[in-house]
Amino acid sequence: MTIENPATYWEELWASGRRYSPLTEPETTLLDQHVGPGRGRLALDIGCGDGALTRHLVGLGYQATGLDCTPAAPALAEPAAGPVMYCCADIEAAQPPPLPQQAYALITARLVFAFIKDKPAFLSRVRSLLTFGGVFWVVTPMAEHLPPDRASTGITSVEEELLTSLWATARSTDLGSLRCYALRAWGDATIEKRY
Ligand SMILES: C[S@@+](CC[C@H](N)C(=O)[O-])C[C@H]1O[C@@H](n2cnc3c(N)ncnc32)[C@H](O)[C@@H]1O
Repeated sequence: MTIENPATYWEELWASGRRYSPLTEPETTLLDQHVGPGRGRLALDIGCGDGALTRHLVGLGYQATGLDCTPAAPALAEPAAGPVMYCCADIEAAQPPPLPQQAYALITARLVFAFIKDKPAFLSRVRSLLTFGGVFWVVTPMAEHLPPDRASTGITSVEEELLTSLWATARSTDLGSLRCYALRAWGDATIEKRY
């Protein structure tokens, strides 16, 4: 699916009352197992929507920032267990987003990757924002499991290959119609496994 102007497109959907698959307990349990407690580390939730996942990360002990291209979605956020920062920006803009920090131990993108226009550029940007050994957590439907009229809201097997390439480790787990990926960047602890 190609969305020319994501800010306008998503703003209208949020304003019309459209909502997306809510976080489930199996999903948060799986995430917690992969990423562990935050211990004050930095996390960035790309396409945070109403911030449910961002708030969960705060509850895990991360200093979390939710990034979304529309202000309407974060405005719906409920109170969190701690401070949550929000950044209104298009992650695909030519300039990097004006984020409060330069590198994040955890970056998440839930129900977002399928809508990214230039996926290789997006993945490069994510890698540039991750710490060495950091984790990129992605949750997405698979196009092949969706009805034809909704297939563009999921990713193809070719896009999955692109998503899971060039990481130190890439693990995926299916939870119902969603596939969850824990993609770990190369880092001090993983670099020696390359050779
Ligand atoms: C399907 S919603 C998912 C929201 C949330 N992650 C969730 O799981 O409920 C996709 C979200 O990604 C945001 N988004 C889409 N493209 C974006 C982009 N290029 N930059 C920043 N946010 C984007 C939209 O505004 C929307 O809030």
